[in-house]
Amino acid sequence: MYRNTLARIDLDAVRANYDLACALAPQSQCIAVIKANAYGHGMLRVAEALRSRASAFAVATVDEAVKLRSGGFGQTVLVLEGATSPKAYEAAASLKLTLMVHCEAQVRDALQARVPVWVKADTGMRRLGLAPDRLAAVVTQLREGGVDVQAVCTHLSCADETDNAATEKQLDVFAACTAGIDLPRSIANSAGILAWPASHADWIRPGIMLYGASPMAGESAGVDSRLRVAMTLSSEIVAMRELRAGESVGYGARWTAERPSLVATVAIGYADGYPRHAPNGTPTWVNGRVAPLAGTVSMDMLTIDLTGHPGAAIGDTVELWGGNVSVNEVAARAGTISYELLTSVSARVPRK
Ligand SMILES: Cc1ncc(COP(=O)(O)O)c(C=O)c1O
Repeated sequence: MYRNTLARIDLDAVRANYDLACALAPQSQCIAVIKANAYGHGMLRVAEALRSRASAFAVATVDEAVKLRSGGFGQTVLVLEGATSPKAYEAAASLKLTLMVHCEAQVRDALQARVPVWVKADTGMRRLGLAPDRLAAVVTQLREGGVDVQAVCTHLSCADETDNAATEKQLDVFAACTAGIDLPRSIANSAGILAWPASHADWIRPGIMLYGASPMAGESAGVDSRLRVAMTLSSEIVAMRELRAGESVGYGARWTAERPSLVATVAIGYADGYPRHAPNGTPTWVNGRVAPLAGTVSMDMLTIDLTGHPGAAIGDTVELWGGNVSVNEVAARAGTISYELLTSVSARVPRK
């Protein structure tokens, strides 16, 4: 690679974050969520890093699970969306995948395919899951049909908000609908693990926290000192220019120098996954100091205000997010969440 734009992945940090999740829920088993290319970090590399720790991985799709199996991973692989076609059931059966069953059609298909399953109840998220009052009957039906039902689960919609009563309501609904079921239970995503001990149950399902980004919203958003940042997205300065007061930078001339200014052009843009909606002032990090974004993000480049950065030069490294600039902060500035930024780092950016 000849362009110095890079996503550096700290696999030790992933391991430490996995260990933290396990330590926070010592009674629970842990299924590492590595869907969407491990939230942009490289699924096979992350799975390899966790190989000796994790007995189970979760992905979103059968295609992702196939890739994991092809990579030589024999652990339990849970497909969170389950299968949606006869071919997908065939692949699941031959590769010994575990499928989520979240609707009545999947109950019928799982009875035919005889693949191991987790069964999901919709306790309030209103996205996937069986009606809570159907859960016990479906579990019985599947078991009587010879299906290996390994767990019952649900997903929390508002666990990132510590003062939102929706989570307790979901926990109550789940407790009620699983009361007579003698199977392991799973509820907690990262926010559940970090903020809702009552959701830990038998299996925790950490995703974003494995990668060192906080799942929390509102006041608790930002950096969680218990987590270690796994991805540092960086690039380099490829041009610099001095502007007179009143001169503007970039598409739409959205940033205007209020005083004589030094502006640097950095070799990363929205085609690399840096959010085009990041506004003026979004922090980057250059030579140990914050340098604010100045002007509209272009496809392959962006511009930063380096006024007052003595000694800055072409070739200097610019951190877009990582240990110095929180991906949560960049996300908040751009009106999105860390999940979207991490999963949007494009294939053009080499992971190291
Ligand atoms: C069913 C399910 N469980 C767990 C997770 C992990 O969530 P998080 O990344 O917030 O920890 C996800 C992610 O979307 C999910 O869909």
